[in-house]
Amino acid sequence: DGMRPRILVTRELPAAGMKLLEQYCEVETGGANRGLSRRELIGKLADKDGLVSLLTDQVDRPVMDASPRLKVISNYAVGYDNIDVEEATRRGIAVTNTPDVLTDSTADMAWALLMDVARRVTEGDRLNRAGGWTEWAPLFHLGKEVTGSTLGIVGMGRIGRAVARRAKGFDMKICYFSRTRLPEEEERSLGSQFLSLEELLATADFVSLHAPYTAETHHLIGRKELTAMKPTAYLINTARGALVDEEALVEAIRKREIAGAGLDVYEKEPKMAPGLSDLEQVVLAPHLGSATRETRDQMAATAAENVLSILLGKGKAHRVHA
Ligand code: DGY
Repeated sequence: DGMRPRILVTRELPAAGMKLLEQYCEVETGGANRGLSRRELIGKLADKDGLVSLLTDQVDRPVMDASPRLKVISNYAVGYDNIDVEEATRRGIAVTNTPDVLTDSTADMAWALLMDVARRVTEGDRLNRAGGWTEWAPLFHLGKEVTGSTLGIVGMGRIGRAVARRAKGFDMKICYFSRTRLPEEEERSLGSQFLSLEELLATADFVSLHAPYTAETHHLIGRKELTAMKPTAYLINTARGALVDEEALVEAIRKREIAGAGLDVYEKEPKMAPGLSDLEQVVLAPHLGSATRETRDQMAATAAENVLSILLGKGKAHRVHA
């Protein structure tokens, strides 16, 4: 049927999304086991009306130049820093994302990293496997008490607030810095105090990042900010790698200017800054924030629904704006 929209999905998604797309569209995918190279992406997009992209696909001006029919870029992620949204908007191409469905899974991941670095779980596992555990001892492998400590949340959007709700259950003091301050009522119900970034860094035992990556937030946490943190504090990043100057982070941990870090994201994934993986005080997860079966199914359905909404007027789309 020539009237069915043509969609390119750069890499096969969970069935929930593929089925929905295939019901209404002609779908081409990059396959189950690999994504598309940039050249393939550009080549395959020429006759497509819609694109479902991953955060690893750079969707910029040359890609849009190659696709005169393109009406929608549906990113299979909540973050969309891989897309030139301004350029897409200029061309009348809608850009959509998958908010809400990954809020809790990502907050859980931040929590897992926080608990892990605080109680040195992965570090202890490594030690144990290497035969380094000889006996129980009063001062062996001590960590930092989470209950009652202070959490600093940078970026108080959906995910930041979900992290605050978890922290409340641990009787933590919660402070936050965000581009927009929460209404007083919400601040109170989350038990959180608005601070400047500077004050937050000086106060928090754990600093957890939940801001989007933009030109303004590039290296939001650099040398100066790391130095401003307490030497006993930990940095948690489940947002985007480039919020942090990763080389400065390695240096700060080496010099014991901060105690350690729990990271799920990196500046140049899947690479890591030299020296990072030599540090005992870091936990290095491979971008797993949304990686539960439940969340990925819902992300796939949402990404498909966004395409159908824009191209066929079915239901509502989660559009993002530059
Ligand atoms: C996102 O959605 O932005 C995550 O990085 C992947 O789910």
